[in-house]
Amino acid sequence: MAERLKLQVTGVAKSFTTPQGTAVEVVKDLNFTIEDLVKPGTGQDIGEFFVLLGPSGCGKSTVLRMVAGLVAPDRGTISLDGVAIDGPGRDRGMVFQAYTSFEWMSVLDNVAYGLKLQGMALAQRNKIARALLEEVGLEAFADAYPAKLSGGQKQRVAIARTLAVNPKMILMDEPFGALDAQTRMEMQRFLLEVWGRHANTVLFVTHDIGESLLLADRILVMSPRPTTVLEEVRVPFARPREPQLRHTKEFSQLEEYLLQRIGN
Ligand SMILES: Nc1ncnc2c1ncn2[C@@H]1O[C@H](COP(=O)(O)OP(=O)(O)O)[C@@H](O)[C@H]1O
Ligand SMILES: [Mg+2]
Repeated sequence: MAERLKLQVTGVAKSFTTPQGTAVEVVKDLNFTIEDLVKPGTGQDIGEFFVLLGPSGCGKSTVLRMVAGLVAPDRGTISLDGVAIDGPGRDRGMVFQAYTSFEWMSVLDNVAYGLKLQGMALAQRNKIARALLEEVGLEAFADAYPAKLSGGQKQRVAIARTLAVNPKMILMDEPFGALDAQTRMEMQRFLLEVWGRHANTVLFVTHDIGESLLLADRILVMSPRPTTVLEEVRVPFARPREPQLRHTKEFSQLEEYLLQRIGN
């Protein structure tokens, strides 16, 4: 059985100084823990899908960047499996809102890139990358360049690239935020499927209430800036989930509740 992952965020605060020299407090006092879930009876680690939900500008990306090790907190600690995070690491893979493929590399090479950095031989990394491309429905694009892909396809590549290196934790910053409504829904369905197979620990940031309810096991509701935790919501829906879940009464009620809670 794999070790259950645990991320601990304790008393974290962060301010930025504007170019004019004023300090802006972004994160006030943030505390949360992500702990992998275990399938009852079997003891199998099934990861956890954890969502940070809050209004635009409240500090969600800042929190994610601190977990990624790209930004250091002013106060408090963030630790992964008991070890303080003090920089980026292979144990955390990140998917951004903006498309981040290397434009000069084929889709296959993009997906295999992290494995190349790890020193894996060409044949082996291409085999893994091809399997992932097949899984995300892009096997026909293996030799194409990212410029040929739609926004949704680019994010599939980003997800495949992150899965390739099998990080302990996947960090996703509004990965579907730039997509049109239809594609966004397709990508949510796609992510539910992929996540069901890989059972990773995911920390996913969004300001979209419906998205958070469809995807999450738990939602951390954040206040406007300077942000802190308003509430933690355990999402009661069984898995596997289908997007049709959105049309149920229970879903609408929770949606309504969160809307009031966030107040936007
Ligand atoms: N490097 C930075 N320097 C100054 N201000 C920043 C910096 N990064 C973020 N901010 C400010 O912090 C606030 C929260 O930003 P962000 O974490 O991106 O929010 P969210 O992702 O929830 O929309 C915003 O007001 C933003 O302008
Ligand atoms: Mg953001």
